[in-house]
Amino acid sequence: MSIILSGIKPTGVPTLGNYLGALKNFVKLQNERKDDDFFFFIADMHAITVPQDPQTLRKNIKNLAALYLACGLSKENLTLFIQSEVKEHLELGYVMQSLVYMGELERMTQYKDKKAKNETGLSSALFTYPALMAADILLYDAKYVPVGEDQMQHLELTRNLAERFNNRFSDTFVVPEGLVTKVGARIMDLQIPTKKMDKSSENGKGCIFLLDEVNLAKKKIKSAVTDNLAHVHYDVANQPGVSNLMTIYSCLTNLSFKEIEDKYEGKGYGEFKEDLANLVGEELTKIQSKFNEYINSKELDEILDEGCKKASYLASKKMKKVYHKLGIGRN
Ligand code: AMP
Ligand code: TRP
Repeated sequence: MSIILSGIKPTGVPTLGNYLGALKNFVKLQNERKDDDFFFFIADMHAITVPQDPQTLRKNIKNLAALYLACGLSKENLTLFIQSEVKEHLELGYVMQSLVYMGELERMTQYKDKKAKNETGLSSALFTYPALMAADILLYDAKYVPVGEDQMQHLELTRNLAERFNNRFSDTFVVPEGLVTKVGARIMDLQIPTKKMDKSSENGKGCIFLLDEVNLAKKKIKSAVTDNLAHVHYDVANQPGVSNLMTIYSCLTNLSFKEIEDKYEGKGYGEFKEDLANLVGEELTKIQSKFNEYINSKELDEILDEGCKKASYLASKKMKKVYHKLGIGRN
């Protein structure tokens, strides 16, 4: 039995990118690995590394919890919880901060990119956030961490920190492995296909949110940027827009790029986009109907209470061990 863990930040409504790059794969993994234990959480402590409006944040947290289930995760072998409700994340996060080097954090692209853009008012928590992410994973002895490609750097750091602690203080943490699915690992913005589709993007037209009204989502697909080659062909360098749409198509149908190319051979983009819009529409309809069942249900709160209880139990056991090994406190 292995533990498989992942988290998503409640910084907005999850996007089609989150779904195809993360949530849908979580569901697939859960179906394939019935003997494993799945831990999924809402990374709300990570959300406040950038400014948030409290009311919106509270709503996003609840929405994300319901969306995890609406996307098809089964309750059977699932521990679903909210990060801030398990205080040990911050405790181990601090321990990880004491272990990580400034140079390592400075190399993390998420921070580097913001710094390069000369954004002002960056919080120190944004800088140290990979240490908290390492704690999220190591607290539960997670063996596998399914994430999008953009998170692999953080995962590599987590592995280094686990090994560093184990070497200094004897075996304590499981060294985790990232699981990235190739197709769908990175869905791009529909209007700027060289930029990743992101919840916090300002351009709503380029981003499909899982709770978008279905007709609006279809419209976004139909007005996605393509090119004037009029040829459904996978070529990221020369046809980034079309290639991105093909990635979405492939994730939703399991057809290979070659199969999609053959299907639309000699046809323009109109029919391809129309079909894709319908596929996306069907998927969103399914998700939203389950979302509506969960969002104000007692069941959702019960699942989160149960998740918090189980996660807290394991996390507190781990922290006792960590503090003891570090020599802090009285025991
Ligand atoms: P975030 O929205 O940054 O909290 O990401 C949550 C999960 O979704 C992570 O595993 C990300 O790698 C994944 N993810 C976010 N945006 C995309 C995207 N555009 N394409 C694929 N995966 C994504
Ligand atoms: N940093 C991840 C992201 O931005 C979210 C996250 C936080 C996470 N803690 C995690 C993912 C632990 C996997 C495991 O997408």
